[in-house]
Amino acid sequence: MSALGKISPYGPDNPHPLSQMKAELVWEGKYDEYGNRRAVRLPSTPLPLQRIETIDGPRDCSNAQRLQFDEATAHHDDFRNMLIWGDNKLAMAALLEQFRGKVDLIYIDPPFAVGADFTVQVQLGDEGDEVLKEHSVLEEVAYRDTWGKGMDSYLQMMYERLTLMHNLLSESGCIFVHVDWRANSLVRLILNDVFGWECFRNEIIWRRAPNLGRQAAASQLGRVVDTIYVFSKTPGSPFRGEIPYRSEPVETDRQGKPRGAKWDEERSLYFTTAPRGDYTDDSIEQLRQQGRVYVSNTEKIYIKYFLRRGEDGRWYKDQPVDTLWNDNGVKPLRHCSQDELGIGFDTQKPEGLLTRIIAWASPPDAIVADFFCGSGTTLAVAEKLRRRWIGVDLGRYAIHVSRKRLIQVQRELHEAGQPYRSFDVYNLGRYERQWWQLDRLKGADDEHRHVVLRFYKAALLDNPASPLLHGKKNGAYVHVDEIDGIFTFDELQQVAAAAQGAGARELHCLAWEFEMELAHKKQAVEAETGLTIRLKYIPREIMESNRTEVQFFEVGYLQAKVVEHEGKVDVELTHFSPALAEVPEKKMEALRERAVRSPFDFIDFWAVDFEWREGKPFEHHWRDFRTRKDRSLKTKTDAGWEYQTKGTHQICVKVIDVFGIDTTTVMIYE
Ligand SMILES: C[S@@+](CC[C@H](N)C(=O)[O-])C[C@H]1O[C@@H](n2cnc3c(N)ncnc32)[C@H](O)[C@@H]1O
Repeated sequence: MSALGKISPYGPDNPHPLSQMKAELVWEGKYDEYGNRRAVRLPSTPLPLQRIETIDGPRDCSNAQRLQFDEATAHHDDFRNMLIWGDNKLAMAALLEQFRGKVDLIYIDPPFAVGADFTVQVQLGDEGDEVLKEHSVLEEVAYRDTWGKGMDSYLQMMYERLTLMHNLLSESGCIFVHVDWRANSLVRLILNDVFGWECFRNEIIWRRAPNLGRQAAASQLGRVVDTIYVFSKTPGSPFRGEIPYRSEPVETDRQGKPRGAKWDEERSLYFTTAPRGDYTDDSIEQLRQQGRVYVSNTEKIYIKYFLRRGEDGRWYKDQPVDTLWNDNGVKPLRHCSQDELGIGFDTQKPEGLLTRIIAWASPPDAIVADFFCGSGTTLAVAEKLRRRWIGVDLGRYAIHVSRKRLIQVQRELHEAGQPYRSFDVYNLGRYERQWWQLDRLKGADDEHRHVVLRFYKAALLDNPASPLLHGKKNGAYVHVDEIDGIFTFDELQQVAAAAQGAGARELHCLAWEFEMELAHKKQAVEAETGLTIRLKYIPREIMESNRTEVQFFEVGYLQAKVVEHEGKVDVELTHFSPALAEVPEKKMEALRERAVRSPFDFIDFWAVDFEWREGKPFEHHWRDFRTRKDRSLKTKTDAGWEYQTKGTHQICVKVIDVFGIDTTTVMIYE
């Protein structure tokens, strides 16, 4: 009987579902309409990762300059690190085949669903910053990152990714999840769900900013900390590295002697002491053998903590860290070195923070992964600490920044006589698009064109004069290429003829990939038809759920020439027309003018593969790039490449502009 006197169908033998519910976080999409937990939706067979570049900076450089290079001592081993451009869900699904249960440490720092885009500041030319301020438009058109707006979609996204990460982690592995005040309470619950409460290890509070002073609003206190959750794959202790220490300066007396410290004759060092506490007799014996036990006059046992003389001449005490991380070893980014600051990525984390995590939670040669790698901080630190690494990011700009950063690390290690590892850059190419079409567009061909036109803010043509014309924007006809295709010269001629027949004056061709050098070849078609033709890349960002704004970049155009001298070959850039995004017309004018006046200012990085073949990953035989500190850039290689065999060779030149967009050209050399 219920309180109202009605007979309830529920009781001890048939309990009400609510009476049995456990504490859990629920979001829309977690359960299906029958109450079953939804599985992570993935392609039935994993999408193949496409290796698009192979990078071994020091070796390529030595080979190009015919210098001695010792393979055996230069590399740690044959493992090739991986930098993957694409959605981490698909990338992780692809990685499962080779790395299920093999990843030792994962660190992630996912952005939160605030619905706000963030931009990176890009720099132009040799002058760097000053130019940027003049052209604030460049900040506007730079890289964006949006999760979508709904909290439910954020939770679903995190749940799916964390589940895949759980599968990738080894039995002794662990994960560090870095979140801020907006996401921490929710992410902790999802982690409990995926990893289990019993696998929770720590909640680390990291001070990411100094005191905000008066910047803090009156209605709330300054938000200066982030949370890092640590979970292990299994309940046992995950940590195989050294417990991290933090250094604190010790006060000295007038004679310069550290206060309260004693002198150790054997080591010629000062030490402080602490009672033996919970140390077992066995542990005390071990410490005694290490010379770390001090016995007082009253026969009491103490542990010795040796002080360290810092480079600044002061005495420091190293203390094991606890869960509050606010010491000098993990300084906020703004207090880090100019080199680190020079990376210039908006949400970049300091290397000190990652050094502490990786050194503590993984042994040398472990596989460390960051599936939201951004500017590649985790990867750079992993490389320096001789761990293997896998990094994924869906941002074109993030991949570009990481690539540059990791080449620098390879160089620095090699110059310091230390071994390093090669790395490859991957993407999922058209497979990612095919999966998007199948998964989200439910397989419809035309739907793909509709989505592209919507993002391009073009009107769909209901009754087009030709099936090759799909939309109209500000008087221009718009053609959208197939999801699978490469837009070729033949196709361009056909579409241009159709547009001319329809009385067009301007034609925009949108495609995922363009035949090489089409931006150059289009001039002939323009001359023949009288049309103004714009070729624009369809950005991969349109595949991201809840994305509302994207930038369409025009296809760049590159020309270079081969320079021969004493049987050696070099390459000189002769013309570059950068890929510019759609921005308000007035600002665009300034950009175009600059691009015509000094196009090489838009080049951030360029590389040459002297032995290129269709279908082979691009090898970086020679490269040069700008850094924040050194803005100069060569426009001619100094490789002095010597071909060992006679015959026809193909030389591929790849330029990456300040927006992270690449433009390539191929030359034949005989
Ligand atoms: C907060 S940033 C990471 C910054 C990084 N810790 C560093 O030190 O530079 C988050 C990164 O996640 C990337 N990202 C967001 N969603 C992603 C997804 N589904 N797959 C891969 N990367 C993603 C963004 O492009 C962004 O670069």
